[in-house]
Amino acid sequence: MSAYIRSVSTYCRRSIAAKPLLTNSLRYSDGAVLETTLRLPLILHTIQNADADPHDRQGFAHFMLKEIYEQPEVVRTCLAAYLKPDWTTGEQAEIPSSPFNFSLPAAMLADATQIQIVACGTSYHAGLVAQHWLEQLAGIPTRVRSASEFVSAPPPLTTNTLTIAVTQSGETADTLAAVKARRSRSEGFQSWLLGITNQPESSLSAAVDATLPTLAGTEVGVAATKTFMAQLVVFRCLALEFAYRRRVLSAQQVQQAIAALQALPDQIEAVLQQEYETIQTVAQTFAAVHDCVVLGRGINRAIALEGALKLKETTYIHAEGYAGGEFMHGPIAMLDANVPVIAIVPSGSVYESMLANAQKVKTNGAPLIGITNVTEPPDCAMFDYQCTLPPIDEQLSPFLTVVPLQLLAYTIAVQRGLDVDRPRNITKTLTS
Ligand code: AGP
Repeated sequence: MSAYIRSVSTYCRRSIAAKPLLTNSLRYSDGAVLETTLRLPLILHTIQNADADPHDRQGFAHFMLKEIYEQPEVVRTCLAAYLKPDWTTGEQAEIPSSPFNFSLPAAMLADATQIQIVACGTSYHAGLVAQHWLEQLAGIPTRVRSASEFVSAPPPLTTNTLTIAVTQSGETADTLAAVKARRSRSEGFQSWLLGITNQPESSLSAAVDATLPTLAGTEVGVAATKTFMAQLVVFRCLALEFAYRRRVLSAQQVQQAIAALQALPDQIEAVLQQEYETIQTVAQTFAAVHDCVVLGRGINRAIALEGALKLKETTYIHAEGYAGGEFMHGPIAMLDANVPVIAIVPSGSVYESMLANAQKVKTNGAPLIGITNVTEPPDCAMFDYQCTLPPIDEQLSPFLTVVPLQLLAYTIAVQRGLDVDRPRNITKTLTS
C-alpha cells in the first residue's frame, strides 16, 4: 500500500504498530504498511482508534507537538469553512460579491474606517500580524491594544471603529473586561464588536455582535500553537475581504491571494518535515542557555515576539523578541557567545536590513540561527545554523516562520526535562 499522507489526523485513524522516532512508513496492527512522504515524530508504540478522544495524544509524546503537527490540517479546515467554493467575482456590482463565508452584518464591514484589536499573549501577536495585513494590504488604520491595559487607559472613542477581540479560549478575563469597557463606553457611537475565538460558545461570543470561529479543534497544550495559526487564517481572509470590498485588490488579485493561502498547508508540512532534525540539533546545542533573542522586522516582528513568548513559557529561558532595527539601540549590548540570536530573514522588503542586523549580531560574538527562505551563499554563510523555508511571499511568511520557533521551544523544553504541556505558574486560560 502506498499513499501520500496529507495530515497527521489522516494516518492516526488506524492503529499503528511500533515505529522509531522519525518515520516514513507506518505498519498497521493488521500488518499492512503505509509508505508516506512525510517524516513524522511518532513516539508511542501503538495507537488505538485515535479519533475516539480529542484529548488523546495520538502517538505524539506531548499535546504541544501534536498540535504543532496538526497545523496544516487546521489551515485546510479553516479555508474550507471560509472560502466560497463557487465564488464568482461579480466585479461590476456596486458591492462585489465576497469570496468568503463570513456571515457578518453587512454594515460591520462596510462602516469600518478604523480597526482596533484587543487581545493578550499569543492572540495579541496574531493581532500584530493582522495589523500589518489590514494596514498594508487593505489600507485601514489599525491599532493593536493589550487587553490588560485597555480598561485602565481606554482610548478616545472614534466613530466607525470596528473593535476585534481575539482569544482562543473566549474566556480570558482581561479580554472580556476590555470588550465590556468598549461596549459600555461606546453607547450612542456607531461601532461594532467582532470576536475571533476557538470557542464559539464562550463568554466572548455572548459579549460581541458577531463571532468568527477559528476551527482549530481542542488545544490542550498551554502554549498556543495551532489556534494561533487558525487566527492568522481568519485574519488573512478578513484583510482580503476588506481589500476586495474597497477595490484595493482586483478579483484576479484576490484569486491569486486565495491560491497562495491554499498552498500553505503543504508548505507548513514541508517545514515540519524538513526542519525537524535541524531543530533537534539547535535545541541540543542551546538547551542550557539562560538568555536568547529573536529578531524580526516588518510583519515578522510579531513572529519574533511570538517565538520569544513560546520560548519563555515552555523553556523558562529569558527570551527577548525584538524588531531587528530597534535591537541595535541598546539591547545589542547584552550579546556575547552565550546568547544565541534567532534572526527571521525572509526574502522581500526587509531582507537587506535583516541581513545587516544579523551581521551586526554575528560580529558581536553571538551564535546566529537563521530562519530564511533564501539559500544562496554568501548571504547564508553567516548563519551558524539555518532553518530553510520553502519560497513564500513575505506577507504570508508568518505562517511558516513561526513553525520552527514553536518546534524549537517545544524541543528545548523537552531537553530541559520540563512539563511542556503544563508550564509552571500559568494555566491554559487566565480567567481572573
Ligand atoms: C500562549 O501560548 C499563552 N498561553 C498565553 O499568552 C495566551 O495566548 C494568552 O493568555 C491569551 O489567551 P487567549 O487567547 O485564550 O485569550
